[in-house]
Amino acid sequence: MKKFGLLLISLAVSFSIAISQQGGSLMPLPKEIKTGSQNLLIDKDFSIVVKGLPADFVYDRADDFLRRLAGRTGLFIQQGRIRPSMNNPANPSMEITVDETGELDLRVDESYSIHITQNLIKLHSKTSIGTLRGLETLIQWLNSDQEGYYFAEAQINDSPRFPWRGLLIDPARHWLPVDVIKRNIDGMAAVKMNVLHLHLTEDQGFRIESKVFPKLHELGGEGMYYTQEQMKDIIRYAADRGIRVVPEFDIPGHATSWLVGYPELATVPGKYSIEREWGVMNPVLDPSKESTYEFLDAFLTEMAGLFPDTYLHIGGDENNGKHWKQSKHIQKFMKEKGIKDNHELQAMFNKRLLEILTKNGKQMVGWDEIQHPDISKNVVIQSWRGQKGLAAAAKAGYSVMLSNGYYIDLIQPASFHYLNDPLPDDLGLTPEQARLVLGGEATMWGEQVTHETIDSRIWPRTAAIAERLWSKSDVRDVQSMYARMDVLSLQLEELGLTHEKNYNMMLRRLCRGKGVQELRTLADVVESVKRYGRNAQSDINALMPYTRFVDATRPDAPVARNFNLSVERLINGGDQNDLENINDLLNNWYANHQNLTKVLDDNPILHEIKPLANNLQAISFLGLQAVKYLQNNEHPPEKWRKYALKICKQAKLPYGETELMVVSGIEKLINSTK
Ligand code: ACM
Repeated sequence: MKKFGLLLISLAVSFSIAISQQGGSLMPLPKEIKTGSQNLLIDKDFSIVVKGLPADFVYDRADDFLRRLAGRTGLFIQQGRIRPSMNNPANPSMEITVDETGELDLRVDESYSIHITQNLIKLHSKTSIGTLRGLETLIQWLNSDQEGYYFAEAQINDSPRFPWRGLLIDPARHWLPVDVIKRNIDGMAAVKMNVLHLHLTEDQGFRIESKVFPKLHELGGEGMYYTQEQMKDIIRYAADRGIRVVPEFDIPGHATSWLVGYPELATVPGKYSIEREWGVMNPVLDPSKESTYEFLDAFLTEMAGLFPDTYLHIGGDENNGKHWKQSKHIQKFMKEKGIKDNHELQAMFNKRLLEILTKNGKQMVGWDEIQHPDISKNVVIQSWRGQKGLAAAAKAGYSVMLSNGYYIDLIQPASFHYLNDPLPDDLGLTPEQARLVLGGEATMWGEQVTHETIDSRIWPRTAAIAERLWSKSDVRDVQSMYARMDVLSLQLEELGLTHEKNYNMMLRRLCRGKGVQELRTLADVVESVKRYGRNAQSDINALMPYTRFVDATRPDAPVARNFNLSVERLINGGDQNDLENINDLLNNWYANHQNLTKVLDDNPILHEIKPLANNLQAISFLGLQAVKYLQNNEHPPEKWRKYALKICKQAKLPYGETELMVVSGIEKLINSTK
C-alpha cells in the first residue's frame, strides 16, 4: 500500500467505503450499520404503509419520500397519496411504525432503526420525529447498478450525539423571502438538523410584523418583513419536518432599526435611520428607563405568543457601550444603582428581560456576552467567540452551544468546520458539565449574501457541521466527508436549493452567455476572500450589488480541492494518475487563457478579475515546468525555483475580492522539484 493510503485510511473511512459499495452514501453517518448481501429491488409497485401513532406530518413526509424515490428512479410508482387510512397496500414494501406522536422539543427522542431485507423495509421509531430522521437516511441509502435501483440489506440503528443542531439564517442584513427560508428548512431536514435560528432584527432591518408596535416593521423593515401569518406558515413548515424555530431579537446593541420608528427607546436622543454600513454600531437601547422595559414586555410577550418554541434568543452581542459611556443620565443611573461597568449594566438589563421571558414560559438564549455572575443559570449561552468561552460557561453551570468555528459566512473550507468539535476531549469538563453542551449552530450571517447566493454559502458545507453534531465524535475522516458531501450536494438540489444551479446561472449572466466554459474554468479554482476580507473594504455598504464574479464563486472550490489533493498525494508517493491529473488541469488552465481574456475584455463587470486570470496563466506555466522536471527526474536550477516561488507569492493577491485556490498546490509542486 502506498504511503498516502496508509495515512488516509481510518476506521471511519474504511467503514464508509465498505458500506457505500452496497448502500448509498450516508451523511450524517449513522451510529451503527450492519449490511448483508441481499437487495430489495425497486419497481413501480413499491409501496408504504404507516402504523402506530404517527403525527399527521408522518403521512406527508412518507408521501414526499415516495415521490422523491419516483423522482430519483424515474419509476411511475403506483401507490396513491399516502393519507391516514387510505391507499394502504396489503403487501407493502415498507412498514413505518411509530410508537408515539412525540412533542417537538429539545429533548425529543429522535432515534430510529431501519431493517432492510430482500422483501421488506421496516422503519421503526419511538416518535414521529425519529421517523423523519429515518426517512432521510433511507432515501440516501438508495443505490443502483446496471439492473436498476435497490435498497441494500441492512440493519441501521441511529440516534444523535447532540440535541441542538442548528442553522442561523440572518434575513435582517439582506432580506430573504419565505421561499428561501423554506427550501433551506428542507435542506436542514435532509441532514437531520433540528433548529432554525432566525436572526430577525439588526441595525440594517427589522423583519417581523409587530401588531403592538407597527412602526417596528413598517419603518424598520422598509417593506421587507415577514407578516405574522407568513411566520406561522414557516414555523408549521419547519415543525412538520422536525425543526424548531428559535427567533432572535438582538438587543440592546445591533438595534438601530428599532429606533427608526421608536427613537424614545434610544440611549442618545435623536432621529435614527436604517444603518447602511456593516459592523458594530453605537446606537443602543436605554436600560435606565422603565418605559424601555414596558415596551420590551409588550413586544416580547407578543413574540412569545407567535413563536411556540420554549427558547427565545435576545442576542446581547457586541454592545460597544459608547452611547452608554457618553450619556450623562446613564452615568448618573449607574452611580445611583452602584453599577460599576457596562457589562454589569447589561446584566441588569438582561435580568429584566429574563423576568419577561420567564413570565411568558420561555427560556432565554443569548450570545457569550450575556454571561455574568448575576444572570441565572437557566439561560443558554451561544458561544461565538471561542471554545474557552464555551468551557467557562459550562463550568459555571450554564447550558451552552457552540457557533465559534461554524461561521459559514467566512468562506472557510468544510474540513475546517468539520473538525471543530463542540466537546473535544481536552475541554476539561466533568461528565455533568459535558451534559450541558447541547450542540451547536452554523451561522449564516447575511452581510455578503442575497436570495441568489445564500444557498451556495450554506450548502453543501453545512452538511459537514450537521454530521459533526449528529454522528459519533470519532467520525472525523475528512476525505470520506468530502466524498459523501459531493454526492449529497446534488441530491440537495431536488429540494429546490440553488447552490449548484445558480453558479452556472450567475456565470452565464456575467458573460452574457458567451464564454461560460472559459469563465467557469477560472471560477472553478477561485474563492471569495476569507473571514472579514470583504466587510473590511471601506466602500462596502448594504446597497451594493451582489452579482459580481466573487458572488458567483463558491467556498471549497471543488476543482482546486481536487488539484491540491492530487499534489498532496503525489508528493507523498502517489502514482501516475495523480501526475496525469495535475498535468491535465494545469494544461487546461494555461490553454484557457487566450479565450478567457476576450471574455473578460468584452464584459466590463469582469475587468476587475483580469489580473487574477493573468496570474492563473503564469502559475500554470510554472506548474507545467515543474511537472516536466518531476517526470524527467531532473532538478531545476535554484534560480528558476526562486523565481517561480516569487511569481506564486504575487499570485496570492486577491482581485475583485477573490483569490486563486491552487497557488499553494503549485508552490508544493515547485518545491518538490528540489
Ligand atoms: C456575533 O457574531 N456577533 C454573534
